[in-house]
Amino acid sequence: LCVRGGTVMRSRVRFCDRMSTHTLLVLYGSQTGTAQDMAERIGRQAQRRRTEVRVQSLDSYNVANLISETLVVFVCATTGQGDPPDNMKNFWRFVFRKSLPTGSLCRLDYAVLGLGDSSYPKFNFVAKKLHKRLMQLGANALLPVGLADDQHDLGPDGVTDPWLISFWQKTVSLYPMPPGLSPLREEDPLPPRYMFHFLDATTDKPVQKSHPPDDQGPPSAARPFPAQMVSNQRVTDLSHFQDVRLIDFDITGSNIQYNAGDVVMMRPCNSPEDVEQFCQLLRLDPDSYFILNPADGGTAVVPARLPQPCSVRYLVEQYLDIAAVPRRSFFEVLATLATNELEREKLAEFSTAQGQDDLHSYCNRPRRTALEVLADFPHTTAELSVNYLLDLFPEIQPRSFSIASSLLAHPNRLQILVAVVSYKTRLQKPRRGLCSSWLASLDPTQSDVSVSLWVKKGSLKFPQDLDTPAIMVGPGTGVAPFRAAIQERIAQGKRANVLFFGCRSETKDFYCQSEWEEKVQAGHMTLFTAFSRDQEDKIYVQHRVKEQAKLLWDLIANKNAVFYIAGNSKQMPTGVCDALKEVFQQEGGVTEIQAQEMLEAMEKAGHFQSETWS
Ligand code: 2AM
Repeated sequence: LCVRGGTVMRSRVRFCDRMSTHTLLVLYGSQTGTAQDMAERIGRQAQRRRTEVRVQSLDSYNVANLISETLVVFVCATTGQGDPPDNMKNFWRFVFRKSLPTGSLCRLDYAVLGLGDSSYPKFNFVAKKLHKRLMQLGANALLPVGLADDQHDLGPDGVTDPWLISFWQKTVSLYPMPPGLSPLREEDPLPPRYMFHFLDATTDKPVQKSHPPDDQGPPSAARPFPAQMVSNQRVTDLSHFQDVRLIDFDITGSNIQYNAGDVVMMRPCNSPEDVEQFCQLLRLDPDSYFILNPADGGTAVVPARLPQPCSVRYLVEQYLDIAAVPRRSFFEVLATLATNELEREKLAEFSTAQGQDDLHSYCNRPRRTALEVLADFPHTTAELSVNYLLDLFPEIQPRSFSIASSLLAHPNRLQILVAVVSYKTRLQKPRRGLCSSWLASLDPTQSDVSVSLWVKKGSLKFPQDLDTPAIMVGPGTGVAPFRAAIQERIAQGKRANVLFFGCRSETKDFYCQSEWEEKVQAGHMTLFTAFSRDQEDKIYVQHRVKEQAKLLWDLIANKNAVFYIAGNSKQMPTGVCDALKEVFQQEGGVTEIQAQEMLEAMEKAGHFQSETWS
């Protein structure tokens, strides 16, 4: 194909193909649902252009078929330290196989749209790497890779809209609409993806289908394990502003094996009050049952997580994400369904590129929920057809928590430390984190409580050998993975454990205090605490790191220690890294640049690891 003539031949074949097919495949790799939402949005744009379209996650697609596809859009998020999302991990492994012949995708026209966060060093790494790999396999890029910036708090990124316009210009010119058809108008509704068939109230009470018992290896997103909640204990003083919980689950019989550093995943539920209000606004009976079917001619797949038949209450409580800040696509769909002139105008404005600043002020900045938006558009909401619910609301996404216990110290148990998220914006009601508030509301002393969960490998890895010291810096709930590591390491006879813990006050939020004291007394660990508000000047963990310069230098330079940071403050990791570099300069006599290089070398060797969250 590198011969000129060959290229001409190839493009002639491609031209014939293009004339005979109009199927667009949109494949996404999505961790939090943003890439999925974007893929579905592209799917709707295709429908408006009368293009046959399929939208699916990369791992639900049989990747061997890629060889016979002609037009594919990949929408890929980049997570954490440049990793692909969970639902494209199999695809990722397959597409980078060395055995795939160069040129194997020569029939394929493709485009890659990446969703990344520019505050992370490996910005849109997955999209860039995939784009390169597809070219290497002979596929034809319709346009340069799109690099959207998902810093939603900073407002619209201005990348996606122009990218989508170029994509459609290119695609429509190569794959023209069938003769005689014109595009559907933006303001007209598309058909819903699903149809609800409500059961007659007089028929027998339907039984909700439960998931079959898991006998196929450890639990997963598709087959979570219903773990009994054993206790849900507040570990901060009642007078403290923050409610932090230590929650203990019984995982007997689950087949879950985890190590320190791993994370547990679970999906929260909407509160009964929100479910009630939602049903009232939409005039739905929460106790009615329905069977869900894909709409005629559509390619939608009924979510396996929904029982059939399903009650409206179950759907709203467990599946529809009504408590999240709605995305632009929510307004795009809602605008097409509104009949009230005023409401439709406003919704349509929020859907346009020009309306994104207004939408940001209305929704993102004050963290307004989808449910609150519905209440602001009462005419539209009251008239909404139930069939559109799954087009409007995304699925509730699983949340991850660092596991805070070790199986070696607590057999058959899994514990987490959860800070209950609650804060004020300009809206009257405080904003609450869906998962942490839901977990805090569960009371195993009042009734049996079970939470469906599964476990994932985490990014923190602790030393295998007995003598390598672990230096762990974990203020607040950042201490969770280190509690697991310290329990595990002590059980394995690893004694070189150094913990830096920070909180506001020794008497209010110094959780696990007695546990640490016991271990310190037994000579199993060393603890340094920083209570930021017990004196006039703030004392943070990084101050303690600097104070312990001699000890840390000895552990790192002479004993090959691994240094860990975990926590949820944006500035904390930088503060701790700066302190560590000062330690290197002071004790190692190196320059600032050399200290930076030392830190980078440690990171490369896995001797500096961090796990941070916002
Ligand atoms: P503060 O809230 O008093 O500022 C756990 O949240 C602890 O981390 C608290 O004591 C908190 O202090 C502290 N913290 C806040 N910002 C920090 C930063 N940039 N570096 C280190 N610790 C920080």
